[in-house]
Order: sequence, then structure tokens, then C-alpha cells
Amino acid sequence: MLCKADDSAQPIHLDSMEGQIGPDVVDMRGLYKQAGVFSYDPGFANTAACQSAITYIDGEEGILLHRGYPIEQLCEKASFTDVAWLLSHGELPDARQKVRFEQGLMAEAHLHEQIRNFFNGFRRDSHPMAMLCGTLAGLSSFYGNQGADQRHRITPEEREMSTLRLVAKMPTLAAWVYRYSRGLPLIYPRPGLSYAENCLHMLFSMPEAPWAVNPVLARAFDRILILHADHGQNVSTSTVRTVGSTGVNPFACIAAGVAALWGPAHGGANEAVLDMLDEIGTVDGIPDFMNRVRNQKDGTRLMGFGHRVYKKLDPRAGLMRRICHEVLAELGMDHDPRLELALKLEETALNDEYFISRRLYPNVDFYSGIILRAMGIPSSMFTVFFAVARTAGWVAQWKEMLESRPGISRPRALYVGPTRRDVPPSYGVEG
Ligand code: ACO
Repeated sequence: MLCKADDSAQPIHLDSMEGQIGPDVVDMRGLYKQAGVFSYDPGFANTAACQSAITYIDGEEGILLHRGYPIEQLCEKASFTDVAWLLSHGELPDARQKVRFEQGLMAEAHLHEQIRNFFNGFRRDSHPMAMLCGTLAGLSSFYGNQGADQRHRITPEEREMSTLRLVAKMPTLAAWVYRYSRGLPLIYPRPGLSYAENCLHMLFSMPEAPWAVNPVLARAFDRILILHADHGQNVSTSTVRTVGSTGVNPFACIAAGVAALWGPAHGGANEAVLDMLDEIGTVDGIPDFMNRVRNQKDGTRLMGFGHRVYKKLDPRAGLMRRICHEVLAELGMDHDPRLELALKLEETALNDEYFISRRLYPNVDFYSGIILRAMGIPSSMFTVFFAVARTAGWVAQWKEMLESRPGISRPRALYVGPTRRDVPPSYGVEG
């Protein structure tokens, strides 16, 4: 219970809401009605904008659960398509559901042939995320307005179809973005390959020389997809929910999520980590770089460190470090100078007062760029594959949002502009 801050000192009754785990939440919905004031929470750091049963994060303890399952166990025992199903349906698929889902994904992996024409409109040197964003929104013109409308008239089956299509088509779209930017022939998905294998096949195969499946790399790639599949109400997911609350089609929603993910403070960070490692050069460059970070010179940050929610090690970062060692060993690159530099940089930061006092730890992006680069994926494509993985989370969150029928998303602002005033009489065409 709060009290009005005016003379009346009337009590304001705000209920508290309990989650399954985690801190309670104050239900602010009655605040304006009772007290005539709004809450102020820029960046929504203290605000639960929805109820969700998909992902739970405890940033203080470094815990990440999807539908209750720890990310460590999912990463070890499940495939990315299992996790995609889990996020959307609440349970891991049984054997029959698994087969049917994977068959469905394969059947829907193709893109309408006319989509090839879209690419010709882009400059070859366009950023892959620009092409992904544009073509993805364009898919709505081929696959209808399935999934949502303002009156929620679309059936659950149609919504299901949209989510299947999005998860299925993203790798093809992502690979075609890459192939177009390199002037390479577009490669089609191949039946019999797993989701992760198909991603790599469509990236690296040539018509005359199919990519030779490497199970270690395919499994590593699959686990990278799992680690990026969902992460609660981050900025891109909140964007998908916000845009989706208007009732627009799911392809446009996911395109909006892709735009949000593009930024270097979000999905673009793994690309930025590699640029940073290149800039530092060798371990000898670390002291100078760390001084720039500590002095907060030119806004220099240690990319791949820090997180809005995690104030302990991001559990995905530890898993990513392990995958990094496995992939580099498989490729005979265990002594890769970039890995040595990253390890030393991590050790230095973890023992540095600047990082300790601010509780800054490696996040999921610190090692992912090194792995993807070692696998031959160019850094401009990193965020594209982050988007492929996150589509599993976005569609699950989009469906959950629609099913809860929340009404349109509409935050307010604390207005700090001029009060009412008149346009000067001398101004304008009549003046
Ligand atoms: N390097 C150096 N200093 C940092 C870093 C960093 N990576 N991150 C935060 N800080 C410092 C800030 O300068 C600030 O210092 P101050 O209190 O002296 O002003 C303090 O730590 C708090 O920083 P905020 O920006 O308020 O922290 P916030 O939680 O809002 O930021 C963010 C989180 C954006 C991820 C930030 O840590 C960052 O920019 N990291 C680098 C980019 C990155 O790796 N992003 C990927 C995030 S994970 C993901 O999206 C998948």
C-alpha cells in the first residue's frame, strides 16, 4: 500500500503479484486511477511489461531457465529444434511430435522463387541485416496475413503455421543473404540434414561440391543456436511483442525484432568483439586498451562484457567458452592467437577493480564471434544467425502475447517540453 503525496494522504491500494519464482511484482494498473500519477521507469529496468511462462532469468545468481529447464541441460541433451518446440509449446517434444516438427520444418524451408528477385534490389555490399530485415518483412506478401489481426480472429492452427514457417525459412533467408552478398549461386535446403547442418550446407555448399557434414561443427552450431534461442523480455523480444500487439502479421513483427537486434549494444556485440580483438592486436595491447576502458575514454567498452540483467557470469558465456575450445580443437586451431588474446583479456578483466566493482562479466557474445569466425562465417553474418536462433523465441513470445490478449502496447512519457503556446502571428504562409 502507498499513500498519495498530496494533502489528502489517502491510501492507494496496489496489489502485489506473485510469480512462480523470483521477486513479487507491484500491480501498477490502478495507480493513475487512484492517485492521478504515472510511474517513471526509463528503459523499463524495473517494470514487468507482461506475464510470461517461457523464460526465467535470475541475473543475481546467473540462472537461465526455458520452461523450467536449465540452459546447461538443454544445451547438453536437446537439439535446437527441440528447444524451438519447447519454447512455443511448453514441453519438450515427444518422439512423434519431434519427427512431425522436423518434417514440417523441412517442408517449409523453401522460399517462394520470386523472393530471389528481392535480392537484386540490394547493393552487393549492403549489410546482411539490412537485407534480412527487408526480405523478411516482404515474406508477408507471399505467406498472407496468417497469425494475427486486430480482433484475434485467426485460428490457433494458422498461428501455428506462421510460427513453423518463420522458424523453417529463416536459415534459407539468412544463407541467401550471404550468397547474394558474395555473388554465389543460391543453395536450397537439403532433406536428410538437421536444422544446423542445413544452415551450414546452404552457406558453404557449391552446386558441384556439397559441404561435407562435420558432426562436431554441426553440433557446435546447433548449441550456439540453442544458446541464442530466447532470453526473456530483451529489447528485440519486447519490440516483437510491442509491434505484435497492433495485430500486424508475424513476418512484420519478426522483421521489427531483427531491426532491434541489429544494434551493437544487443545482437551486434559479437561482431564488435572481433573488431575489438583486432584493434587490440596482441596480448601486449591489453594494458593500453584496459586503461582506455577504465578511463571511459571515447566511450570505449570491453565488448562482450556486461549485461543489463546478469550481475554474475552469464551461464551462456561459460557454455560458449567450452564450445569455442571444442571447435578450435576440431579445426586444429587450439593455439589461435585471437583465442589466446580473448582468454587473457577475460582473465585481466575478471581481476580488475573497474569490472569487479561494476559486476561486469563476460556475456554470450564474448566467445561466439571467435567460434563463428573459425567456422568460416564472416563477422557481418553473426547477427544474422543470432536472428535465425532468436526467431524460435520471438515466435513463442509473439504467440504467448496474442493468447493473453493484452491490448495495444502504449507507454507514456514524463513531458518536459514547452507548455501550451501560440504559433507567432508573423509565422506561416498567411503571415
Ligand atoms: N565495458 C566497460 N564498462 C562497462 C561495460 C563494458 N562492457 N558495460 C558497462 N560498463 C560500465 C558503464 O560505463 C557504467 O559505468 P559507470 O557506472 O562508471 O557510469 C556501468 O558499467 C553500468 O553500465 P550501464 O551501461 O548502465 O549498464 P547496462 O546494464 O545498462 O548495460 C550493456 C548493459 C548495454 C550490455 C553494457 O554492459 C554494454 O554496453 N556492454 C558491451 C556491449 C555488449 O557486450 N552487449 C551485448 C549484451 S548481451 C546481448 O545483447 C545478447
